[in-house]
Amino acid sequence: MMRLLPNCSNKTMKIAKTIAELKSCLEDFGRDKTIGFVPTMGYLHDGHLALINEAQSQNDVTVVSIFVNPTQFAPGEDLDAYPRDFDRDSQLAEAAGTDLLFFPDPAEIYPTGASTFVEVEGDITKKLCGQSRPTHFKGVTTVINLLFNLIQPTRAYFGQKDAQQVAVIKKMIRDLHMSVEIIVCPIVREADGLALSSRNVFLNLAARDQALVLSQSLASAKALYGSGERSVKIIKAAIINQITTMPLAAIDYVDILDFETLADIETITSPALAAVAVRFGNTRLIDNIILIKR
Ligand code: PAJ
Repeated sequence: MMRLLPNCSNKTMKIAKTIAELKSCLEDFGRDKTIGFVPTMGYLHDGHLALINEAQSQNDVTVVSIFVNPTQFAPGEDLDAYPRDFDRDSQLAEAAGTDLLFFPDPAEIYPTGASTFVEVEGDITKKLCGQSRPTHFKGVTTVINLLFNLIQPTRAYFGQKDAQQVAVIKKMIRDLHMSVEIIVCPIVREADGLALSSRNVFLNLAARDQALVLSQSLASAKALYGSGERSVKIIKAAIINQITTMPLAAIDYVDILDFETLADIETITSPALAAVAVRFGNTRLIDNIILIKR
């Protein structure tokens, strides 16, 4: 059965499914308003809601998008399995103070024949997640560019959880002289330390338990750094050793890079990003910590 979404005028939070509806809602708000934009792929959790809260506190209008972007998934990745629950998401988004929820179909964003991509080249997209997901960031920068063009936000909100995504988007903004301000919000975690992720729902009990090793190994790295250790090799080895104690954990990468540029470093002399990606069965989790002098 086809489900009809309310059109953009009969709810406190407006919902736009098409670009025409989105533009009409934005016109209704008035172009003089500051717009805070939170792009998401849905299945919202407290990490997403923290971004929405921040957007709401800094702007006249808060726009959230829910779009599981096909171009950032490679064939064989979890595009079809990616969790979706629009009714729950729209309630959460509305309760968090969203003014306009953009929920387009893939065909609306990528009509037949669309063949233009925005790609940040260089090491910044080749390292970390770029190694096992070589086409991922091209999809991310394409959709973010496209959404920025449609929404023209004053500020856009991203989570430090996806540290490389933040670095790549900031580079795109600089390289293309875009005027949107990027606001980065801290990682929201479960009480036991696991970083919130829409993919956590795929973890069985044993994997959920062992997945704690991501945040724990990064906490150990921070402690080592805090005790004066500055060798990337030594801190990386400590992280790897800790993760490999978990039988269900398969390391995708462990790396420590310059925080701003993601350049390789041997010794930590300025803020550094310690980042990990670990697979538990088909579920790939990422986490990171910034090593910085306090
Ligand atoms: P998604 O994974 O839904 O994440 C949307 C935003 O929420 C991202 O900026 C992400 O970093 C942030 N986020 C996720 N988990 C978080 C956590 N535990 N704490 C803080 N922030 C968190 O990232 C994407 O979607 C997509 O790549 C997107 C940017 C929407 C482009 O398609």
